[in-house]
Amino acid sequence: MGNNQGITILKIGGSVITDKSADNGAARQEEIRRIAEEIAGFKSRLVIVHGAGSFGHPQAKRYGLTDQFDPLGSIITHRSVKELNDIIVDELNEAGVSAIGLHPMNCTISDDGRISEMSLNIITSMLDTGFVPVLHGDVVMDKKLGTSVLSGDQIVPYLASKLNAERVGIGSAENGVLDGDGKTIANINPGNFDNIKGFIGGSANTDVTGGMLGKVLELLDLSEVSNTTSYIFNAGNAGNISGFLNGESIGTAISKTEP
Ligand code: IPE
Repeated sequence: MGNNQGITILKIGGSVITDKSADNGAARQEEIRRIAEEIAGFKSRLVIVHGAGSFGHPQAKRYGLTDQFDPLGSIITHRSVKELNDIIVDELNEAGVSAIGLHPMNCTISDDGRISEMSLNIITSMLDTGFVPVLHGDVVMDKKLGTSVLSGDQIVPYLASKLNAERVGIGSAENGVLDGDGKTIANINPGNFDNIKGFIGGSANTDVTGGMLGKVLELLDLSEVSNTTSYIFNAGNAGNISGFLNGESIGTAISKTEP
């Protein structure tokens, strides 16, 4: 099996699908259902990556996982994000998407916090067979640190460059990257990044993996290595995910050069 259709990679941020201010996993079931239904209308090759929200950040923080190796904390955090993954995969299947959960803990090795290997052949054979792999931010084995916290924001550009993705989008809880007046910045590129990086914040809630600035830096890197334009948009607004999947340019575009 196999086809030459371009690959789309979509991340859904943890703040959209969970109550990120909660101390322990709180899923936004209605939002997850709406998002699953928007995704169901899309028929091309798609990889979904979702964030952890309150199923990962508070647990990782509680056990200090960004500073130290903690076996119990790693297990508790991994099991919690797996639970969120099950909820999302169930809703996707309910909506008619042939979704299969793929846990980074079982197919990735990092080195000092950066992905060093991922079983890409599993992902490509799923895509070739018509499945939609659903990965997520996770705790993964790490050559230097024992385990490390891996953000979906790092998985997205890694897969985009390895799989040569055609479209890349990160659905967050904001309208894109906002300037000092709260307006959406249309385009960020290496030429204007220094002028706007002062506006870009972290996260209002517990976030062990870098918030909005972390996302922008990952996507700028991607634009430099692979020339891919990616979009950060508000996945909390109904219609935006299907709009992005159908080729609309929404939110903030991150690219190598000015459009
Ligand atoms: C975080 O993943 C992973 C863990 C804390 C275990 P993300 O960085 O992708 O999650 P969100 O989107 O910020 O919630």
